[in-house]
Amino acid sequence: MTTSLRSVPSRRSRFALDIALEVQRQGTLKFFESTWRRYGDLARLQIGPQAIFLAVHPDHVRRINVDQRDIYGKYASYEDVRRLLLGDGLVGSNGALWRRQRKLMAPFFTPRAVETYLPIIVEDGAWFRERWDAAARRGEPLDMLTEMSVLTASIILKSMFSTEATDTIDWVKGAVETMIGFVSSRQMNPLHAPLWVPTPRNRAYLEARTRVHDYIQGIIRQRRAQPPDSWPNDLLSRLMQARDDETGEPMSDSLLRDESITIFFAGHETTARTLAFLWYALAEHPDVAARLHTEIDTVLRDDAPTLDHLKQLPYTLQVIKETLRLYPAAPMYARDAAAPDIIDGVPVPVGARMIVMPYLTHRHPDFWPDPLRFDPDRWRPEQEAARHRYAYHPFAAGQRICIGNNFSLFESHLLVAMLARHFVLRRAPGHTPQLWMDGTLGSRNGLPMLVARR
Ligand code: HEM
Repeated sequence: MTTSLRSVPSRRSRFALDIALEVQRQGTLKFFESTWRRYGDLARLQIGPQAIFLAVHPDHVRRINVDQRDIYGKYASYEDVRRLLLGDGLVGSNGALWRRQRKLMAPFFTPRAVETYLPIIVEDGAWFRERWDAAARRGEPLDMLTEMSVLTASIILKSMFSTEATDTIDWVKGAVETMIGFVSSRQMNPLHAPLWVPTPRNRAYLEARTRVHDYIQGIIRQRRAQPPDSWPNDLLSRLMQARDDETGEPMSDSLLRDESITIFFAGHETTARTLAFLWYALAEHPDVAARLHTEIDTVLRDDAPTLDHLKQLPYTLQVIKETLRLYPAAPMYARDAAAPDIIDGVPVPVGARMIVMPYLTHRHPDFWPDPLRFDPDRWRPEQEAARHRYAYHPFAAGQRICIGNNFSLFESHLLVAMLARHFVLRRAPGHTPQLWMDGTLGSRNGLPMLVARR
């Protein structure tokens, strides 16, 4: 990095409205992609007094997430998420609270710890095998974004609360999604009614929030009324039993609630979207699908997958990693500069918002030859080792890297092995998905696919 200062190509706007309209028309992904192509790896948008930088180059990813991690935090950019959705949960918290919570929760997300969820994942994989058998007989397309979201929501709710009842899973999923939809539409639309105005949207959000909070508080209360050795062995019990190293304090009930919502929020839609795009990518690349099927058929035969099987399914994992490259479920994340910085000679003022964008870094031709080609061989160990470490950041990077990345990869590995053993998916005739970001990566016109028995 040079130390002499330079100015950066920038786009100026006095008010947010013209940019907001453009984002609404083109979609967030296209808007930032065209900004990147026009202005380069570090572009600046100036909206009134607010400086926004789009950071795409892997060196910038490292600087923001690792080298200068104390400068870049989650402040103004996460205000709505904190206030309306996740409270003090890990995704939006900062400073001493975040450090304490991350330390308390990290042991529950190590590769070893997430392996304990294998029976839940395998049970739900078997449920989907039956569900897709019926769908294959009917021959009607299924929307994969919805299908995968039903599956991962069930897995995370069982892992967290031991919730088994299907109707409970359905309404909790629906209510949390109402909350998420509310927050992401506020973020996209600067003109929204304050919360105290009883618009239908505000009312639906407030109702959903009350129901979700009451549900979680009810479970916590029930457990507190029983001796801990009778609690189910799920994530909530582990969080309830965790104690701060220094003070010996447990988490408060409101923190337990916020962390539970956070894990549900962060931990199901992202994995669902990854799996949905994986089925789509396989349908588009029969050669990749054939290799995947051969690997899985040789290793699994008719068994339910075990940890040993997974070790023998490296190509399956390569397909998952390649899906996360071209279709990163979290296409962008933001940081706010708490102090001035200079990135690659460009001054970054205090308060600047940094948009860090895996979706674009993962398509950068300097780091990914033929970037739009879906090629799981990029994930052969020797190729992976030769690449810039921060050219790939689907789970962010540095200290705030996704705490659930092991959970997600483990869950995806098991589910792909189980479902690809029996089914092959095809794109619904005449349908081409339009990539679209609505909080996570999706498709504006859905992702209908036909399921057939192999
Ligand atoms: C393919 C699946 C997933 C993707 C692509 C993904 C991506 C990410 C990204 C990019 C971040 C950083 C967000 C930011 O800085 O604003 C993040 C944070 C986080 N994720 Fe994930 N995630 C996935 C699955 C999961 C799962 C399964 C869980 C929980 C079981 C989870 C829980 C979290 C939490 C709690 C954080 C906040 C961590 C912190 O700030 O300390 N995620 N994730």
